[in-house]
Amino acid sequence: MKIAVYSSRSYEKPFLEQANAGRHELVHLRTELSEQTADLARGCPAVSIFVGDDASAPVLRALFASGTRLLVLRSAGFNHVDVAEADRLGISVLRVPAYSPYAIAEHAVGLMLTLNRKFHRAFNRVREQNFALGGLMGFDMHGKTAGVIGTGKIGEVVCRIMGGFGCRVLAFDPNINPACTAMGVEYIALNDLYARSDIITLHCPLSPRTKHLINAAALASMKNGVMIINTSRGGIIDTRALIAALKSGHVGSVGLDVYEEEGDLFFRDLSGVVIQDDVFARLLTFPNVLITSHQGFFTREACTAIARTTIDNATDVEQGKINDANRVTMKLVA
Ligand code: NAI
Repeated sequence: MKIAVYSSRSYEKPFLEQANAGRHELVHLRTELSEQTADLARGCPAVSIFVGDDASAPVLRALFASGTRLLVLRSAGFNHVDVAEADRLGISVLRVPAYSPYAIAEHAVGLMLTLNRKFHRAFNRVREQNFALGGLMGFDMHGKTAGVIGTGKIGEVVCRIMGGFGCRVLAFDPNINPACTAMGVEYIALNDLYARSDIITLHCPLSPRTKHLINAAALASMKNGVMIINTSRGGIIDTRALIAALKSGHVGSVGLDVYEEEGDLFFRDLSGVVIQDDVFARLLTFPNVLITSHQGFFTREACTAIARTTIDNATDVEQGKINDANRVTMKLVA
């Protein structure tokens, strides 16, 4: 099958080619999928996209008109796809529901440790032969309370790691994960989690229900000095409200691997460009905010698994045996 691979980066291509092993014709496109670039997939029955690509209704209609009937996502998240429109058009959408929850969980904890012990600042200081410790004081993770929102595959691993530090682990999720209860995680109401947690880490999907879950009211009900980590999706946090809470000093520190408007920024080198997004530019000015550009998934193990499942998804469809567990349907959106 001919597959147009949008947002194909040099670091990802070898993984895809190795997993493909000549099964499909992969057309690697460096550009992102958008209304302007949809026509590049003309004649490709399948299109593969990543999280920065736009698969909104008009784009899907353009792809459909060019002959595309299958969308294989190289991600678990599918908030960038208009699933209702794909359903209506009859475009099958398949994703990689699980690759390495460890990759993202470990990245989230890396952000916590860096913010807490200020490794990023210490690294720069020592290189400047500044060995003073002022401003670098952190806190023991042991004995602190971690609040985990979303205890699916990634959240469960985070709970395990936080437990290893000796943290009390609280969780909120409409679906209780028995593996978490078994390890002593305490499920409580969201407001109680906000009120009791020293560290809050987000691992739920972005959906109409979780859009701006962390808004001004939620932030106000959190502990003074709380650390907030988001490796899930940017839209879960109302960034303007977060900035206000950082300016007032109520929020102590923030680690972000995702940002609401990351589509215009992440996954490219903009080092010579003036950033036009004033909200993001403001976030960059805080000494207690650490941002990485959506690299939580970026481990060898995760990239191998993403490539393998993506190619297998296309092969399955070609052979008429869709893997239902990987299918994105309206049931998942609700
Ligand atoms: P999962 O589907 O295994 O778990 C998600 C959990 O969130 C489920 O237990 C679900 O019940 C829960 N949930 C749903 N609505 C909720 C709500 N309103 N409040 C609290 N919990 C809620 O998904 P997984 O694999 O753990 O991934 C979680 C998220 O991580 C993905 O949706 C994706 O957005 C993000 N992600 C980020 C990556 C990165 O590179 N930064 C890479 C992979 C995923």
